[in-house]
Order: sequence, then C-alpha cells, then structure tokens
Amino acid sequence: MANWLLYGAYGYTGQLLVEEAVRRGHRPLLAGRDAAKTAVIAQRHNLDHVVLDLRDSDKLHAIVAGVDLVLHAAGPFIHTSEPMVQACLSGQTHYLDITGEIPVFESIFSYDSHAREQAIALIPGVGFDIVPTDCLGSYVAAQLPQAASLEIAFLALSRASAGTAKSMLEMLGGLSKGSLVRRNGRLVSIPLGQEHKEVTFSNGRTYQVTSIPWGDVATAPFSSGVQNVTAYMSIPLPPGTAAVSPLLTRLMKIAPLRRASSKLIDWVVRGPDEHLQQTARSYIWACARDAAGNRREAWLETVETYRFTAVAGIRAVEKTLEQQPSGALTPSLAFGADFVLDIEGTRRFDTLPASPTAA
Ligand SMILES: NC(=O)c1ccc[n+]([C@@H]2O[C@H](COP(=O)([O-])OP(=O)(O)OC[C@H]3O[C@@H](n4cnc5c(N)ncnc54)[C@H](OP(=O)(O)O)[C@@H]3O)[C@@H](O)[C@H]2O)c1
Repeated sequence: MANWLLYGAYGYTGQLLVEEAVRRGHRPLLAGRDAAKTAVIAQRHNLDHVVLDLRDSDKLHAIVAGVDLVLHAAGPFIHTSEPMVQACLSGQTHYLDITGEIPVFESIFSYDSHAREQAIALIPGVGFDIVPTDCLGSYVAAQLPQAASLEIAFLALSRASAGTAKSMLEMLGGLSKGSLVRRNGRLVSIPLGQEHKEVTFSNGRTYQVTSIPWGDVATAPFSSGVQNVTAYMSIPLPPGTAAVSPLLTRLMKIAPLRRASSKLIDWVVRGPDEHLQQTARSYIWACARDAAGNRREAWLETVETYRFTAVAGIRAVEKTLEQQPSGALTPSLAFGADFVLDIEGTRRFDTLPASPTAA
C-alpha cells in the first residue's frame, strides 16, 4: 500500500477523507497542527500520525520528503498551500488539495515547469470544487474545437462547512468587487449578483443562478483553452445585492472584521449532517459556445458536495499514484474529462433527461 500523507485530517472534510481512504483500504499517515485532535482521529482508525505545524519548515520538508504524495485538506488554502507546495517540490512528492480559491490555483499553476522538472504532479481542486465543473466544462469544450466561451452553473442541495465559509470570506476580502469572471483571458471582478441567468438542471427544474468566483474561472483556460469563463451558483440573493456587494467586499478587507466573522463562523456554521451527506444531490450544467453561434451543452448530477469531495479526493490520490502524471494540472487534465464518472452516483447527460429525478 502506497505511502501518502493526509494533512488537515481532523477538519470536517479531512475526517470524511480519512473515512473514505480507510474504506478503500488505504493507510495514510495522518497529520495536523493540533496534537490532541490529530491523535484522536488517528486512534479512531488505527493509523499512524504526526503533529506538524506548517510554519516548522525543517520538520515539514523532512516528513513530506518521506512520502510519495500529500493530500492537503487544511484551509483556507491561501494561508496553507504555499509551504506544502514548496515542501512537495523539494521532496519530489505529489501534491493534491481540495482548494477552491482562485489565487491558490493561480499560484500553483505558476509552478508548472518546476513540477515537471521534479517529475511530480501539483493538482489543486480535487474536491467538489472543481472536479465536476472542470470535467463537464472540458467535456463540452472538447466537442466545439473553436469554443470561445464557457458557462458553468451548479446547484448544491446541501450546506457549507465552517472551513468552506471561511475560505469564501477570504476570497471575498481579496476581491475588489465580489465575484470574478474571465474575459479575453483576464480575470475581471464584478459585483456579486450582477451576472445572473436561469438554468434548467437535470432534475427538470429551472433556477436563477448568480455569478460566483468558482475555481473554474482560474482553471478552465488550462483545461480547455477557453478564455471567457463564467461560473454560476444557485444562491438566493436579495434584490440590490449587486449595489451593496462592493461595500461588503471592502468591509471584508478589514482584518479585525474578517477575523471576527471567521470566529462567528466557527461558532454557528456546521457542515451537512450524515443524513444530508447521504441523501442530498448536486446538479451541474456546462455550455460552450463559439464565435459562429454554435453551442454544446451537457448536464451532470452527482452526490452531496462533501461526500463527493471525500470520494473524488481519494480517487484522485489513487489515480495519481497509478498514473504518475507531472506538472501543475487540473483534475480533467490529469485524469481526463470522464474522471467524474468514476464517482459512484454520478450521471452525465447530453440532453435534458425526459424523466428527471426529483431534487
Ligand atoms: N474543493 C471542495 O469542494 C471543498 C470541499 C470541502 C472543503 N473544502 C475546503 O477545505 C478546507 C477545509 O474545509 P473543512 O470543511 O474541513 O473545514 P474545517 O472543519 O474548518 O477544517 C479546517 C482544517 O484546516 C486546519 N487549518 C486551518 N488553518 C490551518 C493552518 N494555518 N495550519 C494548519 N492547519 C490549518 C484546521 O485546523 P485547526 O482546527 O487546528 O485550526 C482544520 O483541521 C476549506 O478551505 C474548504 O473551503 C473544499
């Protein structure tokens, strides 16, 4: 059995990843910065563990050099990915993470040639953000060789964990207006709620979706070469959100306010419970267009987002160890656009199903 490390093992999503890894017969080395919390999860699964603070560079480099792969699950990744990426580059260790943060994707993609020289893969975003949207976007773009634009939308019938909410807060504080779209190859910030449309998902229902700064805005140009990308999510925003969005973003740039919001999130936000994880569904739509007005669209439906992240994260570990890709890669570049179909409970449609499953 391969020798790999799971960092952030006691977080909400880290624990789901540990459970899925064990279910698949893996014995990862578990790591996290808190000694007691790391020990509890390791003992629960009878796994080895190591206490590791990312600021302890010597220890981090020594431990990472001793494993074949790291799956990094401790975020917000804007604060945690860089030291781990550096340790992986110097230790010739594959790096995978579950980020959804655009600056993190951009930073990791800047290490592409370094990763190739070291013959390792750097694959950020092996969770719900961005595996299903990246795979479906690549699938439709590949059917339209001159695709000039890509729209991706999703409906997640679940709720966020504290870590996800804090990562969104960090993203908001880093933006100038509230959302990001890609236009002619450049990231452009727009107020949250400014770009919206209606999308019918494979559950047969039509939803209002709003532009959000989802990872594909950073990654789709690498996956499919498309330079105009908008990602949407079904979120009910009150009227006037576009007008107040720049103010909200400015407030989140104020560090004490951001820290206070982050503490509040820890107190009040709980990820989906076991029942929701097992029963909720997620729906994705992607549409590529070319300059001549041709379009290709497809739909995907899959399991609840955190369940998806646990399963996809561990499948990505397995595929990386089997296939040994190298360079900074999106999931679809690393494993192909059909990778998402490996996740149990996932179906893809080229036309809207005549008898949709109810949401
Ligand atoms: N791609 C996806 O679809 C997807 C899905 C789920 C989650 N995520 C992302 O994954 C991250 C974790 O989410 P979660 O639900 O597990 O959140 P969580 O329950 O809040 O867990 C966060 C984990 O990260 C650790 N951590 C935070 N900052 C750290 C640092 N500077 N050094 C070391 N460890 C640090 C925390 O340790 P302490 O308790 O010691 O602070 C904790 O173990 C978030 O960024 C979230 O957005 C992405």
